[in-house]
Amino acid sequence: MKSLTIGDLKVRIPIVQGGMGVGVSLSKLSSAVAEEGGIGVISATGIGMNYKSKGKYSKNANLNGFREEIRKSRKLSPNGIIGANIMLAVTDFDDLFKVASDEGLDIVFVGAGLFLKKPETLTTDEFINSKMKIVPKISSARAAELTFKVWANKFGRLPDAIAIEGAKAGGHLGFKKEDLAGKTQSLRTIIRETKAVLYKYEKMFSVKIPIIAGGGVYEGKDIYNIMKAGADAVKMGTRFVTTHECDADIKFKTEYISASEKKDIVLIDSPVGLPGRAVNNDFLRAVSKGEKKPVKCDWQCLKSCKYKEVPYCIAEALFNAAQGDMDNGFAFAGTTAYKATEIQSVKEVFRELVSGYKKAEISDRKLESVFVPA
Ligand SMILES: Cc1cc2nc3c(=O)[nH]c(=O)nc-3n(C[C@H](O)[C@H](O)[C@H](O)COP(=O)(O)O)c2cc1C
Repeated sequence: MKSLTIGDLKVRIPIVQGGMGVGVSLSKLSSAVAEEGGIGVISATGIGMNYKSKGKYSKNANLNGFREEIRKSRKLSPNGIIGANIMLAVTDFDDLFKVASDEGLDIVFVGAGLFLKKPETLTTDEFINSKMKIVPKISSARAAELTFKVWANKFGRLPDAIAIEGAKAGGHLGFKKEDLAGKTQSLRTIIRETKAVLYKYEKMFSVKIPIIAGGGVYEGKDIYNIMKAGADAVKMGTRFVTTHECDADIKFKTEYISASEKKDIVLIDSPVGLPGRAVNNDFLRAVSKGEKKPVKCDWQCLKSCKYKEVPYCIAEALFNAAQGDMDNGFAFAGTTAYKATEIQSVKEVFRELVSGYKKAEISDRKLESVFVPA
């Protein structure tokens, strides 16, 4: 596999583990992935749920918990590449970004909205010259165009890389629910169109902007195909859930192993204001029938959440699930979650992915040699 280069950051294996909240990818999973040569990503989403003080979830718990998980991950993988995923949809986005930067994270992924404004907690100079690599997450070439245009004009710099998330991903999705029910652009098409957008800006700034693409990437052959389509690396979430090192409870992981392709993995309307994909369960079935779960809101953690109106607290439900309380929550999952048959170590997953990639490459070369005229 060709290594990934993001400016001065060299990633030996071009696999980025997608940040997974609430409490699914923390220091254990991120450090294990970093140790294997990929990028390990801590999810900052609702991280303070694991660091409640006197039973209360607060902004402080979020910031302290985030800092602590970054430090733990670094300790477990002192030479690995560690990043975080921070959602624009959270009210403490600017403060979490500052923690990431102060703690010297290698890279930060920013999604759940278009990243067009500098965090207020950083000076213009700190933002423009950030050593921490900054990677917005988008789901269309149009969103990439707008992001690059604004960054070029407003900041005089470009993002260090771009993460493309296709319609098959787990968690919140950057597509309309009605589009997801029909036909959405394939990940390959979004990569091709985004590449055309980047070309213009890469020439303008004389830089190379790598594309990290994910959503439905599960096996080595998927990595090969996505990189052949023009990506420089892949982003994988679902595949890393069923690992020993994943920070979620075994009951959360078992949801994946028990899931079947067609009927168990469903689209939901999340109180975040975006559609999401999850493994269906009694909790979600009850909510879809109109049942309201009691909401006790300690603080407004999501910008768009109307806590008096929502059918349940999404942060609490995702946290409960990651703790193994599936009666009071549910597991986000990508379309490929049903493929999981066992819990593996992150090392085993990497070994399988690398070998699957190589096999796909060899068989592709053989095919090419058959079709090349003598
Ligand atoms: C359980 C789970 C939780 C996730 N949580 C978040 C999150 O909090 N923020 C975010 O931006 N993306 C989140 N994602 C998306 C992942 O970071 C990643 O982009 C995605 O999983 C890639 O698609 P895949 O699952 O098909 O591999 C989540 C995905 C899963 C499966």
